[in-house]
Amino acid sequence: MKYPSKVKLVEVGARDGLQNEKTPVPAAVKIELIHRLQDAGLTEIEVTSFVSPKWVPQMADAVEVMAGIHRKPGVRYSVLTPNMKGFEAAVASRPDEVVVFASASETFSQRNINCSIEESIERFRPLVEAAKAKNIAVRGAISCTVGCPYEGEIAPDRVGMVAQLMKGIGVQHIGIADTIGVGTPIKVQKAMEAALRHYAVDGVSGHFHDTYGQALGNTLAALELGIWQFDTSCAGLGGCPFAKGATGNVATEDVVYMLHGMGINTGIDLDKLIDAGKFISDFLGRKPNSRAATALLNKRAA
Ligand code: HMG
Ligand code: MG
Repeated sequence: MKYPSKVKLVEVGARDGLQNEKTPVPAAVKIELIHRLQDAGLTEIEVTSFVSPKWVPQMADAVEVMAGIHRKPGVRYSVLTPNMKGFEAAVASRPDEVVVFASASETFSQRNINCSIEESIERFRPLVEAAKAKNIAVRGAISCTVGCPYEGEIAPDRVGMVAQLMKGIGVQHIGIADTIGVGTPIKVQKAMEAALRHYAVDGVSGHFHDTYGQALGNTLAALELGIWQFDTSCAGLGGCPFAKGATGNVATEDVVYMLHGMGINTGIDLDKLIDAGKFISDFLGRKPNSRAATALLNKRAA
């Protein structure tokens, strides 16, 4: 088995993680988290979302957070933009990349962004064009690629269909998300393979929530297909307000521990990453949801 020699991690804790927190997190805390993450060597950071504050009040401070970051050379900052209104609001914050997000499940599309899959693609079309005109990269995310909280199991063909639609409007990279963490390795590989029929391996990433404890195994299964880019979340933060019961993304600490143990380079300093995860966990009043972080913090304390 030949694994990639390096892996790029997109840290989504500040966005996917904090969008789902009941405790309000002040912009200053989000900014401090992002600074700690970039100091730990993360070079791709999903910062926030330009979405409706009525739908996701946790992201209402998007402008303030983007303005407060001391940008580090070599780091790319991305934001979620569901429509032109979100894109236009985001532009002034100078994101390096915007993320459009669709779903392989019709019902989840309605619940998450209040439109059908087809309508979502039509909303993204002018956004992708406008981003390209401004030299802003566009990443696409596809939710519910293995299972949906409303429709149950999702067939790989649905993933292929949405990937094809995304490709058709010029989205440069596609993230395959297991939104509710029900996937197991072979099912995840099938979803990935459906996307790989439309995108080259360098244009596909994995985004695995860890609800059923499968996310690390699913990451390994994706690595076996040559996928080398993953969204992960420090301290295992995360969830989606429109996918009840889903827990956080796979913890960045756990993925880094696994990859480094396999001799795969990430450019990330695990100790500093653990400190970043502990910082936000302390603020939220709980322990990091990462086995590797817990073990290494215990070792430090001993
Ligand atoms: P809508 O209500 O259908 O939009 O929402 P609308 O165009 O009918 O407008 C209604 C109101 O919203 C208007 O304001 C608009 O101005 C405003 P009003 O006149 O009533 O005062 N509005 C906006 N405000 C701020 N920013 C915007 C925006 N657009 C309209 N961009 C919308 C459609 C998509 C905006 C809404 O459904 C929404 O914000 N949904 C939130 C989606 C979200 O953030 N979900 C979580 C992130 S996705 C995720 O977590 C999955 C992922 O991690 C992968 C995975 O794990 O699956 C990426
Ligand atoms: Mg997610």
